[in-house]
Amino acid sequence: MTDWTDIGALEDIPERGARIIKTHIGCIAIFRTAENEVFAIDDACPHKGGPLSEGIVHGRSVTCPLHNMVLRLDTGLAQGADSGAVNTYATRIDGGRILLDTTQLRRERVA
Ligand code: FES
Repeated sequence: MTDWTDIGALEDIPERGARIIKTHIGCIAIFRTAENEVFAIDDACPHKGGPLSEGIVHGRSVTCPLHNMVLRLDTGLAQGADSGAVNTYATRIDGGRILLDTTQLRRERVA
């Protein structure tokens, strides 16, 4: 079961940009790609916690601004020779609004 929560307008995020939402489990980075897809992942790089929301978006990936680890926005997995992963969160766009599935956030609060 999903619990879609409106977190803002698609236009609030520039193409290939990101914004952060703060949650009880930490900051989640919401990315908009050049193709107007939206992805949500943890804002902390699995390497040394770099702010992924400040990274460079290319295709469906982001490059960490600190040491250039590349992470897939759709799977959260590190690419190339690097290993590691971040949590991903389901999103969808409805009428120009970004909806985030907050079910996962609630589960982690209980755990
Ligand atoms: S903190 Fe992201 S690559 Fe090092």
